Amino acid sequence: MRGVLGEVLLTKSSRLEVLDGQGRLIIRKTGFARGIGDLRAQIRALQTLPEALLQHYPQLLRADSQEPPAWYEMPFYAFASLRDLVFELPVAPEGVETRLNHVIRFLFGCLYSWRTGPATEDYVERAYSGRMRNRIREIRERDPELNMALGAREVWVDGRSHENAETQLERILQKCGRRLLPPRLCSTHGQLEFDHILFDLGEVQCKVFILLDTSGVDTLADPAYDVGKIRQCLCAKVDLLKQDLFELHYEVRRNTLAVESFITLNARLSVADRLSSYMNRQIRDAAKETGDPELEMRSHFAEAVHLCSSLPYYYEPTEAGRKRTLALYVQGVRAFSSFSERFLSRREL
Ligand SMILES: Nc1ncnc2c1ncn2[C@@H]1O[C@H](COP(=O)(O)OP(=O)(O)OP(=O)(O)O)[C@@H](O)[C@H]1O
Ligand SMILES: [Mg+2]
Repeated sequence: MRGVLGEVLLTKSSRLEVLDGQGRLIIRKTGFARGIGDLRAQIRALQTLPEALLQHYPQLLRADSQEPPAWYEMPFYAFASLRDLVFELPVAPEGVETRLNHVIRFLFGCLYSWRTGPATEDYVERAYSGRMRNRIREIRERDPELNMALGAREVWVDGRSHENAETQLERILQKCGRRLLPPRLCSTHGQLEFDHILFDLGEVQCKVFILLDTSGVDTLADPAYDVGKIRQCLCAKVDLLKQDLFELHYEVRRNTLAVESFITLNARLSVADRLSSYMNRQIRDAAKETGDPELEMRSHFAEAVHLCSSLPYYYEPTEAGRKRTLALYVQGVRAFSSFSERFLSRREL
């Protein structure tokens, strides 16, 4: 948002309006029916997080979580999002790395150790695989053309053949088994996408950041779930796909989804790629420090599952909407393949 008095942003789950809050700009966020649960969870989180964590969340000014529609008010932060830093602004990659480093330090050094608990046996099914299967089924039921594309057994892209996402998922579940179960669950952010990470560019130490739109404070989850969300922005360039900044040509023939060309359109793709390698190193360090040796593996798994689970959010029954849905799906298929190449042995492939 630009931060102009009276400005309104309507999303699928809420209405955000820029208001005057006694001489400074504030935002009132009001939840629609589908976003009301998340909005109430956000209010609870902003009321209950300890001081050391709260400094990286929006300040809660006023709220009403009882009466529908529920709403809360927070300051308007005239900051740049991680999406702006990576894809839009002429910021040197080192500057973006430093800022991302502070976020990762905060997550692994503070947030993820605040509240923890054990993972139940069905965690992977509940948090990842069950959700992905349901979301793919939803799209297949809604759209006959996508039903063919997502049902195809083979996906041909980058001059090579991949198995479809669901087949890859089942094999990974079978081969990895308990390796995918996190050693412990913790409070997470829950929606750690680029647009929800804001940085104060006026602050020279690069330490000031605000995490918007949290949904993961109440329910304990896998820290790799959050890392997977950042990975899908960095590696799969989800922000560009959401805004149709890509070209995709495909056809479905005889059980194959054949992608003839697929390119994302942005002049700073190399910044994202460099940051992605940087983050992998940071995650390896965090894995050592927190005694969670499979963290990196699970974050790659989470990325692939998030991509394939996001389809209903970006689907529209138009040519552009179908291409957007397929672009996300193809990134998911690629992410599953790269997971298998990286983390399964030759015998298991
Ligand atoms: N306090 C704030 N200061 C500055 N910008 C904000 C603030 N709150 C929200 N925004 C902007 O509005 C966008 C949408 O906000 P938010 O994510 O909270 O709403 P949402 O309904 O969950 O949207 P989405 O479904 O897109 O995640 C953010 O990505 C950010 O660009
Ligand atoms: Mg949001």
